[in-house]
Amino acid sequence: MQEIDFLDKITDALDAALHKRDEYTHSHSNRVINVSIELGRKFNLSPAEIQILGTCARFHDVGKIGIPDNILLKEGKLTDGEFEIIKTHSQIGMSIISRIDMPDIDIFANTILHHHEWFDGSGYPNGLVGDDIPLYSRIIAVADSFDAMTSRRTYRDELPRELALKIMKEETGTHFDPDVSEVFFKLIK
Ligand SMILES: [Fe+2]
Repeated sequence: MQEIDFLDKITDALDAALHKRDEYTHSHSNRVINVSIELGRKFNLSPAEIQILGTCARFHDVGKIGIPDNILLKEGKLTDGEFEIIKTHSQIGMSIISRIDMPDIDIFANTILHHHEWFDGSGYPNGLVGDDIPLYSRIIAVADSFDAMTSRRTYRDELPRELALKIMKEETGTHFDPDVSEVFFKLIK
């Protein structure tokens, strides 16, 4: 019990660090928690599993702490080289979370590492395919993309919700796990 209390304090501090570093990533992550948990419930995850999924969603982009300001906060389109640097946030996040010494930390680390994998294998960092991508990562990918598309940024307006959903339908089976997508579209109705 004491260990769990301590973990809560560590995650609160890490959350505050992310908030200080990049307010958008922090608020985006909070919204991704809510959608991920709703999706997780539809997959009949246990309360303990839902809690892990929520924590993974909270810190899916924590690796952005390690991306230089001129790239992370750039107002405008990223160059290919800058995008390659942004992509390293998955591994940076995994390496940050792996430092927490507790049982099952690998579940958190792997979920964060793989949240930008695509169902068809064209994602990063490892090009994992289908069920080789952890379920929590596949869930977070859906919640993450929907929020990213429907959020306003300094360099672009948010996409209309219907357009975001249309894109997500088109990317089901390539980007998104069809099973997670199906649950998402039912939920969003
Ligand atoms: Fe990300």
